[in-house]
Amino acid sequence: MWLYLAVLVGLYYLLRWYRERQVVSHLRDKYVFITGCDSGFGNQLARQLDLRGLRVLAGCLTEQGAEQLRAKTSDRLETVILDVTQTESITAAAQWVKDRVGDRGLWGLVNNAGVSVPLAPNEWLTKQDFMKLLNVNLLGVVEVTLSLLALVRKARGRLVNVASVMGRLTVTGGGYSISKYGIEAFSDSLRRELSFFGVKVAIIEPGGFRTGMTSKDVYSRNILAVWDKANPEVKEVYGVKFLETYKKFLGYMPKLYSSNLSSVTDCMEHALTSCHPRTRYSAGWDAKLIYLPMSYMPTALLDTIMYLYSPKPAKAV
Ligand SMILES: *[C@@H]1O[C@H](CO)[C@@H](O)[C@H](O)[C@H]1NC(C)=O
Repeated sequence: MWLYLAVLVGLYYLLRWYRERQVVSHLRDKYVFITGCDSGFGNQLARQLDLRGLRVLAGCLTEQGAEQLRAKTSDRLETVILDVTQTESITAAAQWVKDRVGDRGLWGLVNNAGVSVPLAPNEWLTKQDFMKLLNVNLLGVVEVTLSLLALVRKARGRLVNVASVMGRLTVTGGGYSISKYGIEAFSDSLRRELSFFGVKVAIIEPGGFRTGMTSKDVYSRNILAVWDKANPEVKEVYGVKFLETYKKFLGYMPKLYSSNLSSVTDCMEHALTSCHPRTRYSAGWDAKLIYLPMSYMPTALLDTIMYLYSPKPAKAV
């Protein structure tokens, strides 16, 4: 009986492996637009797809980032300046994309641009702190998608949204997890709507990776700035010791992060080039072995674990 089960499971994985390695044809004619190509996942994906022969249209926040990317890639890769928080910038970039892809439409849109901070207990933050992050990570994705969806539909192409395991499980306050849960919801509704038009939507859920936005420096500078402007009562309730422990925790986290960004960009590449992309890709050992299993735990158990392992506020009861 166990033998049959093992054979069945083995057969399932073999079939899945075979199915997933079917690659779409004419990759060299396919245009992919990626946001946030200055550094991190976006930058590496742009170079990777360029090598693979796809026609990469790379959105960069800065001219410097764009120049550096162009210097490392073929002449087929083109860049455009894009700030996903600015409607005019998105409109201009969408027109720029349209001018290039013409009647073929856009094969792939990769919503990758994002920020990670502020990351702090909610009560230390203001509405503006939340807005700033959500404007990039969530509303930026919504507006870029709405501006380019018609072109993706025309190509019966792919939409690849970078969420996070922090869109499945929440471990800190602030807008980050909110934005990533939002990306999950946005992607789910898009996948269902777009299934009628042959467009496939994939969600990437990376664990911890070392990129420009997740360094120890970014985290510590951020938490100190947030603490500085928190109101006196909040400071008293939490206390300096809490701040120190929290800061130490944030400083320690990036040490556990993987610096092999390929585990993420390979998922993105698969979502764009396989005939049968997955709905969700989790990337990184921490995502697969820790965060995702934790996300399936009963909430009460998860709450207890968090309670035991969190720093305690000075005035905790
Ligand atoms: C990085 O990850 C990719 C994809 O998971 C893997 O194929 C590669 O061997 C890894 N590279 C290193 C240096 O660990």
